Amino acid sequence: MCGIVGFAGRKQAAPVLMDGLKKLEYRGYDSSGVAVIDGDGNIEVVKAKGRLQSLIDKTDGDKTLHGSVGVGHTRWATHGEPNDVNSHPHLSRDGKFAVVHNGIIENYIELREFLIVRGYEFRSETDTEVIAHLLEYYYGGDMLDCMRKVLNKLVGSYALGVLYSGTPEAFYAVRKDSPLVVGLGDGENFVASDMPALLRHTRRFILLGEGEIVRVAADSVDIFNRNMEKVEHEIVTVDWDEATAEKNGYPHFMLKEIHEQPRALAAVLSRIKGDEIVLDNVKFTADEIKNIAKINIIGCGSAYHAGIIGKYFIERVCRKPVEVDLASEFRYRKPIIGKNTLTIVISQSGETADTLAALREAKRLGSRTLAVVNVLGSSIAREADDVLYTLAGPEIAVATTKGYTTQVAALYLIGLYFAGVIVSIPSEEYAGLLNSLKNLPAAVEEILAAPEKIQYLAAQYAGARDVFFIGRGMDYASALEGALKLKEISYIHAEAYPAGELKHGTISLIEKGSPVITVAVDPDLFEKTLSNAVEVATRGASVIAVAAKTNARIEQKADHTVFIPECSPLIAPVLTAVVLQLFGYYVAAAKGLDIDKPRNLAKSVTVE
Ligand code: AGP
Repeated sequence: MCGIVGFAGRKQAAPVLMDGLKKLEYRGYDSSGVAVIDGDGNIEVVKAKGRLQSLIDKTDGDKTLHGSVGVGHTRWATHGEPNDVNSHPHLSRDGKFAVVHNGIIENYIELREFLIVRGYEFRSETDTEVIAHLLEYYYGGDMLDCMRKVLNKLVGSYALGVLYSGTPEAFYAVRKDSPLVVGLGDGENFVASDMPALLRHTRRFILLGEGEIVRVAADSVDIFNRNMEKVEHEIVTVDWDEATAEKNGYPHFMLKEIHEQPRALAAVLSRIKGDEIVLDNVKFTADEIKNIAKINIIGCGSAYHAGIIGKYFIERVCRKPVEVDLASEFRYRKPIIGKNTLTIVISQSGETADTLAALREAKRLGSRTLAVVNVLGSSIAREADDVLYTLAGPEIAVATTKGYTTQVAALYLIGLYFAGVIVSIPSEEYAGLLNSLKNLPAAVEEILAAPEKIQYLAAQYAGARDVFFIGRGMDYASALEGALKLKEISYIHAEAYPAGELKHGTISLIEKGSPVITVAVDPDLFEKTLSNAVEVATRGASVIAVAAKTNARIEQKADHTVFIPECSPLIAPVLTAVVLQLFGYYVAAAKGLDIDKPRNLAKSVTVE
């Protein structure tokens, strides 16, 4: 949930660290800090509560820091409130070790006691500080051996950056259940929590393995496994440019990423080759598909919502039972799965702790696992049996948009691929769905080209205290995602309900002027949804409909109606999502909120 960066080179480290932290601030933004070591081994630490700007101000735009090796951190507090003392880096008692950390040390209380009885005193309330003191405690002249001893004491998840005054030419880093990549430069090398943070300096990366330690110096990168054996890794080169991690003239990353959806959808749908679907290296024989007794789809937040759309679609075209679970519930409910269960885990970041744990649980129970992930080389992508990347490119805004719609598109591809292999639907229906998928990027373009009505409605309802979203079937899943988008960036209390469920209680909340966003795209459920819209309208609600043109009659009952372009109802949820993303975005913009970094949230939830 935090962002960490490290640099070893010949130029001043501080500007590089600050630039990296700027790119990582979406991961956590309640406090930050850097530590730089000069040639004589003097470690200088500066840290500050609040946004990165306060650190930049404190270092006079990083001019006060001297040294060409350093580590930096931007925080999403888990242990100890955001303040100057609890910010990272944390120093050892002797000041010779500085540590930045992303993750949670679950046994830190025990380790604190272990250190306190040995005379150590703690300055902060954090779990991380134990690591700095343990490094001092175990250091016996060999930094690698010291790291090994300390790591053997830690329980939990961590990506660490470590400075030691005895090795001013290098810093150390390690990862376990937390993201960390190594960036390779020319006479300089880096680490960071993700690749976009380093695109200004390099496109050549090494994906560090679980538990691997790396020693990073200006001219060398040495990687060691848990047994302290040197390991080599292939270099991954990405074709993203630095602009990928910039706003490109958009006021917010979220709006930029909403507008990147036609390209992102075209990329994920590039697996359609003529009238065939080729899921990269994901291969299932007809027998393997036929032998799948059940499919479990697992995710958190928006990924879970994509999973619900996936359930409806795959059940419809493959006639196989699909269950959808919230990862935080799945991992503890002793699920009934086995070798003839396919488990699909969905995650934009590929690092969400609950989803990673659910993946491991499904594997432990013998299920084949298929990951639908966006971030290249992330933990979930590497640990699943198969991975289908959503190719959305880096997503910076905390509220996912292109990450979500490409997940839904990926699930359509998986469902249609299975249906094609086992011929579970008539060829015309297969061809029709394939065609709708091919037209999806253009249909999204159409919505993006005419946002005025959505902007107008957002201005109308930006002052609302509560907003209700209703729908049936896939429209209910679209309503869930719409409500999440609105609440996470506008702080308006928004809830989604299956439209048929309202009269069983929730309708008591409806009063004069209550905004009820009614998703009425599915033609088979339109009449039912229409009567639910009438139910709330008669109790004074203001009905805003998002509808397919085939359901135009809703215009007579709704106060406002936004139509989506022509599209197969099974594929249309992607279009509904874009409309509701724009609505949420413009409401938050009307309220002047920090859309890319909503309060209390972080882009990748790497703790339980
Ligand atoms: C969505 O906008 C949120 N950022 C959040 O619900 C997110 O979908 C969830 O945390 C899952 O993240 P993941 O896809 O990276 O696993």
